[in-house]
Amino acid sequence: MGDVIDDLEALFSAPRAQALYLGEAVSVAGHMLQCAALARVDGAPDALVAAALLHDIGHLVDPDVAETDADTQNRRHEEIAAATLAAHFPPEVVEAVRLHVAAKRYLCGVKPDYHDALSPASRHTLVLQGGPMCADEVAAFRETPFHQGAVRVRLWDDAGKVADAPIPTFSGFRPVLERLVLSRSR
Ligand SMILES: [Fe+2]
Repeated sequence: MGDVIDDLEALFSAPRAQALYLGEAVSVAGHMLQCAALARVDGAPDALVAAALLHDIGHLVDPDVAETDADTQNRRHEEIAAATLAAHFPPEVVEAVRLHVAAKRYLCGVKPDYHDALSPASRHTLVLQGGPMCADEVAAFRETPFHQGAVRVRLWDDAGKVADAPIPTFSGFRPVLERLVLSRSR
């Protein structure tokens, strides 16, 4: 169990994770830690705290997956992240991570104000990711298991980009991750 969590901690502490900003006001590592802190403040279950913490690791595990304002293709970082986590974490975590981009498209489809409040970088990638969901896609998304968790992750995702907000340490989330990895291995 220690191995996978140590590997994740190493991803967060790598210079690349601290230096990669992807057009936002915080680094990718700082962003994910802020998101996990917001999930915890909201009293979210362990699985969603972990999903908030890990949702963007696709940008870190594969250097070619980091998305920028200059990108002209969808690099599907959510699928890379889900594939990285699938062997170690329960589906409540993996699917919330996998669906966090679909959740952005969903929220844009059902809440006109939501799109306008997205960061410029998120609006740019939204276009590459397929734009707001149409009515049929919205209906299908609502039938997708774990979609509610993904929507919660998405809202923390949007809020966890504050330049001067405190950034917690990864180690404070280790007990959450340990409980989840243990539950997956039983
Ligand atoms: Fe994010």
